[in-house]
Amino acid sequence: THIPYDIEAAQKGGYDTFMLKEIYEQPEAIRETLRGRVEKEKIHLEDLEKLDLEKINRVYFVACGTAWHAGIYANSLFQKWIDVPSICVAASEFRYSDPHIDDKTLCVYISQSGETADTLAALKMSKEKGAQTISIVNVLGSSISRASDVTLYTCAGPEIAVASTKAFTTQLALVTLLILKMAELRHTTVDCKAELLEGLKRMPEVVSEMLDKHELMKQYAAFLKNQEDAYFIGRQLDYVSVLEGALKLKEVSYVHADAYFAGELKHGAIALIEKDTVVIAMATQPEVAAKTISNIEETMARGANVILITTKDQPAPKFKYVIRIPDVHPLLAVIPVTILLQLFAYYAAVEKGRDVDKPRNLAKSVTVE
Ligand code: G6P
Repeated sequence: THIPYDIEAAQKGGYDTFMLKEIYEQPEAIRETLRGRVEKEKIHLEDLEKLDLEKINRVYFVACGTAWHAGIYANSLFQKWIDVPSICVAASEFRYSDPHIDDKTLCVYISQSGETADTLAALKMSKEKGAQTISIVNVLGSSISRASDVTLYTCAGPEIAVASTKAFTTQLALVTLLILKMAELRHTTVDCKAELLEGLKRMPEVVSEMLDKHELMKQYAAFLKNQEDAYFIGRQLDYVSVLEGALKLKEVSYVHADAYFAGELKHGAIALIEKDTVVIAMATQPEVAAKTISNIEETMARGANVILITTKDQPAPKFKYVIRIPDVHPLLAVIPVTILLQLFAYYAAVEKGRDVDKPRNLAKSVTVE
């Protein structure tokens, strides 16, 4: 007898798509990325000792696409803790911007594939100018890893779906360790270090808890059924989730999505809000959550269909669709929020009958400039 065997179906391990499989692999991917790197309050990233971080007086975080969002996150933590000017720049801009670079400059490159043409070209340019370079890469032995002074690998395993998922959340975990370690090497005390390390260790469970919300995210994704636009809003670190949530939705569902700072809504996007417009709002950052909520209420007053993602204790009496993330340190909230937004984008794409793993016009690794 002939038993049909479909290699691709086998590789998908029982999931309908690679994207869904990779979304579900995140608890393990994060655990693998932390493995051997955190021991009580000690962070093991010994390779960094090859660099002279004490003399650094300028830092650039450089990447493309989803990895660029991880760069924005890394830069926010860096600016919070370390008193050295830093900026995150998209690689396709950075390489043509004639940046100030010398041996006191540190450039940190982030890339899942390690092959993105703009990121690789930016890396080579900065090395020619004498920069010290670190790369955060997922693919072993890739061009970017080979060309940088120090490579720190995310241990996400192979990512097949074009839209990045587990590579991103492992990048977030790893850059948190990196920036904490840099603070330590520069003799800067980070008060919440122990709490963050503990929070990262617990992150696989938190992520699993978010994955259990898949039915709810499917239900919310159905709000987009007759919609062509969606607005993602948030402030501070929530803005990283906002950017990534909007990008994911565009990539896989082809729904037009805008990412906005909550406080900037009133300077433009609010003009586009009408009855049933879908707004996905993030309010996980304690200092600004109440302000964000009042901005979102403005959209509700105009008939928007609002989904709010917030913390356990944040009052939000006017909201009908609220998802509360587990207790995590606010600086780590981007990870659980991202999981929800990945599921949201995924189900929106499925609902619209898209080819989730291979969206039109996109490539997994962009080797053109
Ligand atoms: C492509 C992919 C994105 C990815 C970006 C950067 O556009 O479709 O998912 O974020 O490239 O890729 P990299 O491999 O450098 O992280």
